Amino acid sequence: MTDEVLKKAYDPEFFRQSGHQLVDQLADWLAAVQAGEGKVLRYISPEEVYAYEQSHFSHTVGGVSPNEFFAHYLDQTICLHHPHYIGHQTGVVSPMAALAELAGALLDPGMGVYEQGNVGVVWERLLVRAVAQRMGMNAQQADGVLTSGGTLGNLTALLCARQHQLPGDAWTHGYQGRQFGFLVSEEAHYSVAKAIQAMGMGAAGIVRIPTDETGRMRSEMLKRVHAQAQKQGIEVIGVVANACTTGLGTYDPLEPIADFCEKHSLWLHVDGAHGAAVAFSDKYRSLIRGIERADSVVLDFHKMLMTPTLVTAVIFRRGETSFRTFVQKASYLWAQDEAKEWYNLAKRTWELTKQSMSVRVMALWKIFGPQLFETHVTHLYDVARQCHELLRAAPDFETALDEPQSNILCYRIKPQGVADTQLDQLNMAVRQQLVEEGDFFIVQTRAQGKLWLRSTLINPLTTPHHFAALMDRLRHIADQQRA
Ligand SMILES: Cc1ncc(COP(=O)(O)O)c(C=O)c1O
Repeated sequence: MTDEVLKKAYDPEFFRQSGHQLVDQLADWLAAVQAGEGKVLRYISPEEVYAYEQSHFSHTVGGVSPNEFFAHYLDQTICLHHPHYIGHQTGVVSPMAALAELAGALLDPGMGVYEQGNVGVVWERLLVRAVAQRMGMNAQQADGVLTSGGTLGNLTALLCARQHQLPGDAWTHGYQGRQFGFLVSEEAHYSVAKAIQAMGMGAAGIVRIPTDETGRMRSEMLKRVHAQAQKQGIEVIGVVANACTTGLGTYDPLEPIADFCEKHSLWLHVDGAHGAAVAFSDKYRSLIRGIERADSVVLDFHKMLMTPTLVTAVIFRRGETSFRTFVQKASYLWAQDEAKEWYNLAKRTWELTKQSMSVRVMALWKIFGPQLFETHVTHLYDVARQCHELLRAAPDFETALDEPQSNILCYRIKPQGVADTQLDQLNMAVRQQLVEEGDFFIVQTRAQGKLWLRSTLINPLTTPHHFAALMDRLRHIADQQRA
């Protein structure tokens, strides 16, 4: 019996048959979803889903066909490819990248060391350098790694900043009673604070720089806040800037921030998890002017660049700095602990065994060419601007920004006759109903002291026409809520 199960689990013919069926199933699903058929989400409460799944889980002893299994998964999962998915920044995966992931998942070499990661390791370096070049860095000097997500990417970069900036070796000796910190935008993603606190610098290590109404760092405040921090005994080692912010999608002014960092010998890290992808767009690249002077940058391919989660590039302008982040001994992996072997990636990442990420990006790069990324990013930013114009033209909608900078829009419905004090409550209730109906998916955020509905135009198939339909639905629900 055991032999039979094992044989089937590794049987190439069973794989071939199930694989063909699955690809057919997914292609049919994709065609329907992309045409806007059905719901984006069949919302069911977590308790109900748990109860159902648990009852089937405990009774299942195998015997479910692959077809049945995947049909159930498709039925129960949100459809990011639906043009009415206008919610989080989660990228809409190109089917080719998913196929590449299938190949990467099956071969699953592990990317920690070259002798196992092989060509996937080399692709990482090529991709990181190509992105660095798009950002205006010197590709031969830049280097970096792919890692599992922006959160881990920010930690990896800030660990490197610490190792580079601190007198002495914090990795080995700790802080020895000194208080170090980073100047961080008020609007930084919470993973930045998490990284600083995980590094043991405490809340005092996060020194906030105020932002303006649009969420952009007020770079003219750097000097004063830096001086205050020093007075309080905080030794500042770097600045973390946004390209762009998560909430309102605005870009920090990187040039004056880079000037400040150069003047004070501070490390500049740019969290470009979402918005550094404009490096690929000739039309919008100017939004990140100055990024070429950053010491480190994080960019998520799984947001705007169409790969499955997670694929994050951690880019170092001077590649040799990236070797300083981690110092560890692992004689079973490599012969020389100190050697700067770019091809043994685990010397520079938190992870050891790491997914084959580069294959997902490289498949798109080689099959479609980098113009795929250029076209996609430019298109998303163009469409976001068109949708924003619809909002600005509607007297019953309010927007957080006069003009969007990225493909993130924050807006709210403001029907005539509803007091300002009621608008947060109304918009929250309207969104809740919208999501539970399942015909559209949007999210919400707080900024400028208000609750906003938030949409990221991340699906290449979403048009202003779909967005107008969303606005109509929001109006309709708002009327229902007020009746
Ligand atoms: C600006 C920014 N940084 C970091 C992250 C975290 O990235 P990840 O979800 O890939 O860990 C996000 C996620 O939305 C983000 O918007």
